[in-house]
Formats: sequence, C-alpha cells, structure tokens
Amino acid sequence: MMITSGFSRRMLLGLGGAALLAASVSVPAMAQQVVKIGLILPMTGPFASTGRQIEAAAKLYMAQNGTSVAGKTVELVVKDDTGTPDVTRRIAQELILNDKVSVIAGFGLTPLAMSTAPIATQAKVPMVVMAAGTSAIIDASPFIVRTSFTQAQSAATIGNWAAKNGVKKVVTLVSDYAPGHDSEKFFSEAFKADGGEVVQSMRAPLQNPDFAPFLQRVRDAAPDALFVFVPSGVGSVLMKQFIERGLDKSGIRLIGPGDITDDDLLNGFGDAAIGTITAHLYSAAHPDPRNKAYVEAFKKANNNARPNFMSVGGYDGMHLIYEALKKTNGATDGAGLVAAMKGMAWESPRGPISIDPETREIIQNIYIRKVEKVDGELYNVEFDTFKAVKDPAKAAKK
Ligand code: DHB
Repeated sequence: MMITSGFSRRMLLGLGGAALLAASVSVPAMAQQVVKIGLILPMTGPFASTGRQIEAAAKLYMAQNGTSVAGKTVELVVKDDTGTPDVTRRIAQELILNDKVSVIAGFGLTPLAMSTAPIATQAKVPMVVMAAGTSAIIDASPFIVRTSFTQAQSAATIGNWAAKNGVKKVVTLVSDYAPGHDSEKFFSEAFKADGGEVVQSMRAPLQNPDFAPFLQRVRDAAPDALFVFVPSGVGSVLMKQFIERGLDKSGIRLIGPGDITDDDLLNGFGDAAIGTITAHLYSAAHPDPRNKAYVEAFKKANNNARPNFMSVGGYDGMHLIYEALKKTNGATDGAGLVAAMKGMAWESPRGPISIDPETREIIQNIYIRKVEKVDGELYNVEFDTFKAVKDPAKAAKK
C-alpha cells in the first residue's frame, strides 16, 4: 500500500513534471504570433506566368530566410485573381477582413492594382506592388510601396539610348492600356528630346492581340526601329508575327522596354531575336555573384525554369516586408510598416535598389541589353547601365 502509494505519488509527480516541461516548451511556440501576408496574383489565365514567377520567388525568399521574423511567424496566403480587377479587390477585402492579413502584395497588372488601392487606404494595410508598372499606381494610395518597376523608367531610358545611338525614325506599338500609354509617352518624350522622330504611334488590344495588321504598317513606314511594349508573357505572339512578316530581315530594328524579351519566353524565340536591344531592370544574365546564386536557386526549386524581371519584384517585396517587420519589432500597424519601408536600400539580384522615402517608389539601375546566344541559350546581355533611375513621371511633376 505504502509502496504503491509512494510509487503512485512519484508517478504523479513525474507526470506533472513532464506536463510542466511540455507546457514550458510549447508556450513560446504558441506565443509566437503569426503575421499573414496575402499574395494576390494571376495564377491562371493569360498572365499566369507573372503569378507563377512571383509566387516562386516569394517562396524562395522564405525558404532561404526562414519564417521567423522579429519574434513572429510569417505566413504567406496565395490567392489567384485570374487577372480580373473585381476579383483582386474582393480577394483583398476577404484577406483583410477574414484572414486578418497584415500586408497585401502581388498585383500582376495595373488594373488589378488600381482596383485594390482604395481597399488598402480604407483598411490602412500596406500594399506591396510586386509587378504592375504604371507610374500613377503609387498615387492611388498612401499605403502602396512598389518593388517592381515603372514602365517609364525603362521606356525613357531606351528613348535616351536610341536617340544617341543612330536611331532617327521610330514607329511605336504598345498594348492599349495604362502601362502601354506610359511606355509610348515616356519613350517618345525622351527620344524626341534627344533629336529622334516618332513617325507613327499605334496601340494594339491588350486581350488576344493580332499584331499582323500593325506590323504591315510598320513595314510600309520603314522606320529605323520599331519600339514595342507588350506585357510579360505576350512577347512570344509579337515575336512570332514579327518573324512571319519578315521584319527580322527588313533592317527595321526591334527596341523597347525589356518586357518584350522576357527571360521567361526568350529562349523559345529562336535566333531571329538575336540583336534585339531593350532597357530593363533585370536580366537572368546580370553578371553578379548574388544574381548567379539567385538564378541557380530559383532554377533548382522550379524545375529548371529561369527567373524573369517579375520574379525579382516578388523576391525583393518579401525582403522589404521582412526588413520592415524587423524595424517595427514585429508590430504590424500599417502606417508604421509603410514608414519603415520608406528609404530602405538593399542589394537585390538585379543590383542596388531603394525605396524613395518621398514617393514610396522604387529607384533602381536600368540596364541596356542586347539579345545574344550564350552557351547555346538566348540571354539579355547587359552592356550599359543607367544608375539609380527614379521614376521619370514623378521627376516631371516636381
Ligand atoms: C504591366 C504588366 C506586365 O506584365 C508588364 O510586363 C508590365 C506592366 C502592368 O499591367 O502594369
């Protein structure tokens, strides 16, 4: 009896000790609060490549940097908006109200970012634009911070470069929506300021475009170069029709922002793409050890797929959110996070970048690149750099 009770007591004490120990182990894990990031992207439909690239890059960043930030556990909630503005806005509302996300991010196209901006303002939730490139987006909400690019950064830069490098007469062809209009405007202004002449400006529909009739007009106008903007993923249609019309052999050079020679598609273009000159923020061939490591890790995690310029918007967007959380010691108040993001500067796989503290806009190098064959694959090989380019639209307003 004594023995039994003694044994029982020890058993109980032992169990109690184990339970206490278990409790003390699990307390910090339970106390580590979750910070949710809602990543809203076109994962299906004609712009799915943008969604896939950004999701893959965001996940790579988290795999490399862990999910524990400033004592919180970061959780990514990925949602497909199919590239439809009403859906993007509804998903943003649901993520904020039901899932209690602290940050919304992604935004694969300008109309998707524009439709959601009022939600960010009302809810006071930071909105990290990782893709869309129209300059006006940043003015749509004080809670928007951009890690992608502005179309104007690349378009104005290729305008400057072309005028100074023997291109005199240009025809422009852009997708008929906001970033296309920005591309046309900022290219033309820069090109003309340096003595170039735009002989014709054409706009093709964004959805299901047939470029053939436009390309026929380009042949007839016989400019020195054709300037083209089409969004990421659409370049292969344009390039196919450019080649079918024999424009690659016509002496008319193809130039533009680098969306047209998207790394996601470039290798499928064939040798006709060789020599295309573009200005853009990122090339998978950017010759920096940081980028080499990035490309290698991205390919390894994604069935050998090459990262494109959209991917770095996702990768750097996650870095921005992580570092802002560190600065606020894990506090998720929206205004505080945006304040922490302003002025942040770091080394991206694309090169040095920063967030303009006045405008919340990205400042980055824009590289001039030429399509070349390297080790049997087509790449945008950088050969000139315009350093720390601010958005020309904002510079113009001052
Ligand atoms: C936008 C989308 C793209 O795919 C791109 O390459 C550039 C701009 C946009 O909608 O803003």
